[in-house]
Amino acid sequence: MAGIVTGMDERGFQPVASCPLSEAREAVPEATAAQAGFVAINTIVCQPHYVERFECLFCSRARMIDKMPGFLGMNVLKCQDPVEPYLVVSFWETEQHFHAWVGSAEFHEGHKRAFADLREYKERGEQPPMSSTFKTYSVLSR
Ligand code: HEM
Repeated sequence: MAGIVTGMDERGFQPVASCPLSEAREAVPEATAAQAGFVAINTIVCQPHYVERFECLFCSRARMIDKMPGFLGMNVLKCQDPVEPYLVVSFWETEQHFHAWVGSAEFHEGHKRAFADLREYKERGEQPPMSSTFKTYSVLSR
């Protein structure tokens, strides 16, 4: 992992461009997001010491979700204010498609490394390196 931290600014905030896997990131095309009938937003508070690992997990994310029926795309949003949480925004055709993913083997496979990290911290009796809450949205306007 050494080398990935280079380019951190004085706040310890890592610019996106310094990630060697940044080409793996892709924006949701406008047409895709515009088709969504349902949006789920997972808000993740990440401890400062875990930021580098967290961003690397998403740069090399499992992409298990990509093959799920009704999945239209996702964005991981990093706030320009580094004390604010990350938002994992996923766009779906319907709410049923989202719930099918959450109950699927793909959800667990896509979170394998994240959940393993949480387990390891817990086993060591340490505070979790990240915490998450999600909310779901219908699309009111386009
Ligand atoms: C304890 C709860 C959760 C935590 C700590 C968490 C954290 C993470 C992390 C670190 C990853 C990257 C994993 C990797 O590729 O190794 C990930 C993937 C992802 N998370 Fe979560 N997550 C949680 C629950 C959820 C929920 C409830 C949603 C939706 C509302 C969600 C949405 C996503 C999506 C869309 C991906 C990408 C999956 C893929 O590429 O297949 N997460 N999450």
